[in-house]
Amino acid sequence: MNYKIIRFQEHGDPRGQLVALEENKEIPFKIKRVYFMYDTLKDVVRGHHAHKSLEQILFCVHGSCKIHLDDGTETAEVMLDKPYEGLYIANNLWREMYDFSEDAVLLVLASELYDESDYIRDYDDFLKFIGKKK
Ligand code: TYD
Repeated sequence: MNYKIIRFQEHGDPRGQLVALEENKEIPFKIKRVYFMYDTLKDVVRGHHAHKSLEQILFCVHGSCKIHLDDGTETAEVMLDKPYEGLYIANNLWREMYDFSEDAVLLVLASELYDESDYIRDYDDFLKFIGKKK
């Protein structure tokens, strides 16, 4: 499945920690959009979609949450709970975000501007789009 957890370099010193992210260096695409989610209510599941071409890297910069990924054949569950770990998600992967801690801040770097026509919001349509269902 086309995802990976990337451990980014922490620039730590006695004052604390810092992580720097630069497009086409630490981040394998041009960053066109950044968004973040916070104050997510307990038991909420977000996402429920795939993207036709968008690539993203998700960071839980505070707190924790889990990500469910599905490529139509396999599934994976990833826990994000370290601010220096990013989850790269390629296009054509169904994703759901859940188990947000009360203090969770989920930061997303995206390779494209917001475009509703890039979303596949129905799971059966997703399976058809990737050729796993007729
Ligand atoms: P939504 O797609 O429901 O979030 P998720 O699937 O990740 O849970 O987005 C929530 C709202 O925010 C929706 O009205 C669209 C809007 N939105 C933007 O305007 N720009 C963006 O970059 C994103 C990700 C969402």
